[in-house]
Amino acid sequence: MSLLLTNTTIVTMDQSDSDYQTQPHCYIAMAHGKIVEIGAMQQCPTTAFTDVIDCQNRLITPGLIDSHTHLVFAGNRAKEFEQRLTGVPYETIAKQGGGILSTVNATRAATEAELVELALKRLSALTADGVTTIEIKSGYGLTLEDELKMLRAAKQLEQHANIKVSTTLLAAHAVPPEYKGDADSYIRYVCDEIIPAAVDAKLVDAVDVFCEGIGFNLAQTKSVFETALSYGLNIKGHTEQLSNLGGSELAAKMGATSVDHIEYLDEQGVKALAEHGTVATLLPGAFYFLRETQLPPIKLLRQHNVPMALATDFNPGTSPIASLTMMMNMGCTLFRLTPEEALRGVTCHAARALGLQDARGQIKVGYDADLAIWDIDHPAQLAYEIGTPRLHARILNGALCHD
Ligand code: NIG
Ligand code: FE
Repeated sequence: MSLLLTNTTIVTMDQSDSDYQTQPHCYIAMAHGKIVEIGAMQQCPTTAFTDVIDCQNRLITPGLIDSHTHLVFAGNRAKEFEQRLTGVPYETIAKQGGGILSTVNATRAATEAELVELALKRLSALTADGVTTIEIKSGYGLTLEDELKMLRAAKQLEQHANIKVSTTLLAAHAVPPEYKGDADSYIRYVCDEIIPAAVDAKLVDAVDVFCEGIGFNLAQTKSVFETALSYGLNIKGHTEQLSNLGGSELAAKMGATSVDHIEYLDEQGVKALAEHGTVATLLPGAFYFLRETQLPPIKLLRQHNVPMALATDFNPGTSPIASLTMMMNMGCTLFRLTPEEALRGVTCHAARALGLQDARGQIKVGYDADLAIWDIDHPAQLAYEIGTPRLHARILNGALCHD
């Protein structure tokens, strides 16, 4: 299987330089799922390819990577949205047993097939927006059986759609009703039973913890991370979203690939990310939807050269927004990112947030042939426009997706 794309303008997102690295009048040759050659049209190979597509000078970026989602769940939280609009805060709803736990009830009641069907609909919005890799977390099951059911549903999406899925176990998302008042015992259950079972079933790439006043404390977070690391898994955190507990610093020191949300992160935390090569994942959808006013420390992150990823955080409680290009716009309008930083946030830096920086997120020989072909003149248009149909086609593993 080989594919040749001719007459393209490529936006490589090569991290060795500080701009988009746009190259006009190029070809890209792909074989066996990888990019094998990139060059100027004058040198375009004349050897036989299984397929040749004339891109008519369209712009091509790496396929977009949504590096933080909760795509698999049942039910919705429209009632909670109404409640919040009358002034009840997100944390109060959670403390009253709503919030995450209401989605836990709906997800426990759903079958794996139902979860797949619901997730596929949401996924179609993301693929129409150029996404070729998605990270999906569990965290609405909170029992061994239900967490594994969620992860299996997430993995199954690869069989039903043109997508690559990276799975994250987020059993430490909330204390389930069965363990009310005894978070430590629940954490022991997560470490002793859920993580090993997910590893055994080969369902998990990374482990995440919601380290927060309404989530888990530092000591509990640390023991989940230690267990995950002992199985060779990546770790990442929902940290500094609503307050500053020091979860980001802990995660970075333990080698986390990313820490996510981080509106309340301080300079000490930023320095820890810089020192340990941890990606700062910004989630402007949740910032917007919760009407947060505390901005993430963008200037400090830039100052300390911390790579910034951008993701949808698609979930029913804080970010029911299935558009990664919309997040690029929000990253710019709400957080004052440049459109180029926004594009890095959904390509090369998103790949790094998943530990996939050597295979995805750039257009480079040897990298996965996952690409997005756009009907735009300039890469900044991806962040500038909202809701306009800009995607021409996606390429996954070196093959055209007929979505
Ligand atoms: O990323 N912060 C915790 N987890 C999700 C929200 C989950 C929910 O409210 O259902 C988040 O914002
Ligand atoms: Fe999240």
